[in-house]
Amino acid sequence: MASRIEVLWKLALKTFSGSKTSNYKICLKNFEKLKCLINEINAEDVYVDKKVLDYVNNQSAPMCAIDVFENQDITIAIFILKTGVTLPLHDHPEMHGLLKVISGVVKIDSYSIESYRDKVSDKNKGIAAVKHSSTIIKHTDPACVLTPFLKNLHEITCLEGPAAFLDVLSPPYDTGDYGKGKRPCTFFKVVTINEISDNVQLVATDIPSTFYSKSLNYMGQPLR
Ligand SMILES: [Fe+2]
Repeated sequence: MASRIEVLWKLALKTFSGSKTSNYKICLKNFEKLKCLINEINAEDVYVDKKVLDYVNNQSAPMCAIDVFENQDITIAIFILKTGVTLPLHDHPEMHGLLKVISGVVKIDSYSIESYRDKVSDKNKGIAAVKHSSTIIKHTDPACVLTPFLKNLHEITCLEGPAAFLDVLSPPYDTGDYGKGKRPCTFFKVVTINEISDNVQLVATDIPSTFYSKSLNYMGQPLR
């Protein structure tokens, strides 16, 4: 019998097949099914056990990352943050994503930007965005969803760690030639907060030098 992660992987492949092509349109029915499936996934399904969590706690990187699967359409990965660590505010250019917490507790601050074109034009120019209310998420909560327009940017803080979450993203961040992909991940900082509304201004920024990630092996059966 197929394991839960295999079933999720197969449906993610089906849902996002051809996602890099310009005429791709997501099948909302499949996306809904995918949300239901990822909500059933737990730490055991992806082999994130006490040994892995203890390892993360006892090494020096603020975050560890486990690549589970990647092809031209999807990325499946697990990220594990130590207590108090914040994965800085970043985007997922023109991507869909699901984020399921499988261990620990995180706070997620999401932002939506109105025009994606604003982002790429001028690095020093402020980008108008809307901040959504912070959410505290643990393993019993449903997956967080991001789309090219809604909640596409987020910052994730580990309140009780190590906190692990499973990410399904499509299309993948594309690392092309010369290390500069078509879909590079950009980090942002909030420069203007409007006290009487949820409107903020963001500017692109370098990733904080204190933040880095260590890569760990996936302990489960390879998906193929
Ligand atoms: Fe993210």
